Amino acid sequence: MDNNITKDIRYVGVDDHEIDLFEGLYDVPNGMAYNSYVILDEKTAVMDTVEAKFTEQWLANLDAALNGRTPDYLVVHHVEPDHSASILAFAARYPDAVVVASAQAFRLIAAFYGTDFAARRLVVVQGTELALGAHTLTFYTAPMIHWPEVVMSYESTDKVLFSADAFGKFGALDYDDPEGWACEARRYYFGIVGKFGSQVQTLLQKLSGLDVQIICALHGPVLREQIDYYFDTYRTWSSYGVESDGVVIAYTSVYGHTAAAAAYLAEKLEERGCPKVVLTDLARSDMAENVEDAFRYGKLVLAATTYNAGVFPTMKTFIENLVERNYQNRTVAFIENGSWAPMAAKGMREMLANAKDITFAENGVRILAAMNDDTRRQLDALAAELCG
Ligand code: FEO
Repeated sequence: MDNNITKDIRYVGVDDHEIDLFEGLYDVPNGMAYNSYVILDEKTAVMDTVEAKFTEQWLANLDAALNGRTPDYLVVHHVEPDHSASILAFAARYPDAVVVASAQAFRLIAAFYGTDFAARRLVVVQGTELALGAHTLTFYTAPMIHWPEVVMSYESTDKVLFSADAFGKFGALDYDDPEGWACEARRYYFGIVGKFGSQVQTLLQKLSGLDVQIICALHGPVLREQIDYYFDTYRTWSSYGVESDGVVIAYTSVYGHTAAAAAYLAEKLEERGCPKVVLTDLARSDMAENVEDAFRYGKLVLAATTYNAGVFPTMKTFIENLVERNYQNRTVAFIENGSWAPMAAKGMREMLANAKDITFAENGVRILAAMNDDTRRQLDALAAELCG
């Protein structure tokens, strides 16, 4: 990639292909990028650092971009260690550089790194301006996107938004993602900030008057075109709106009978011309991908085995993942299997009791061990209700 973002802004971040799980949780088969940038003006500002394993590589990138100059500022938009872990190394190497961050960020920096840089810091709040020469940064507080201390900054000459985690995606930058931005950006968004939709909405409102031409996020590619598309997509996601018309059928199955019912329903929905049917085995697929799909589409069928007089564990985990991310504004249907005492539908419904604006399908499906003609009729009726 071209490291020249604009005439005066350089990319100095790194790719991580050693990582197995991002944040100890998310599969990242195509690696991860920790982005960092430098603005070269009368004053020089470095935007964030990188994960600890890459400190030396990042400092070398920085050296090359600075070309003999010394940085005046280190802007810390977000203290999560994937972006802040090289702060001490930077501070030691450039003892005159001022660290720029929110008050809460400095408290977190002290907690992580044992110093709050009291003698060399600039505390920013909403609207603080930092003049670098031809470029000026204006700061926007962005609490809970993705931690409480986060700020973003807008550079008004080149019209660049330094958006912290927002608009980021999984995947290293040297991996040319054939799926484009949205797929792994959606999995990242709902995994990491899906719970905080109202805070994202507040932020988008704050940024709404800005003329943004380039988005420099802390993960994923620099975004230069269709900027409205990225903002519109974030508006849909953060308002829990339905992005795509379709039905997700998420199932758990022990001996294959619930799986067969889920597959039968998928077939019937497709026969009816349902625009998209996603069929997923919760025990054998990526949980974050399933969460992403549940938030992407408008209708969700939960098909589960009864287990310990309740809901099968993998389904329980899936529903917990949805509820803790404020799952709402969707149609949900249940298929339960229980050879002698089906209890899964009751349990699943109870787990969703406090989710907002859920329409429960009128047709439920009860399987007693294996599908039969009666079960197929129930599944036919559910298909008709979901895709009439
Ligand atoms: Fe990329 Fe919230 O850290």
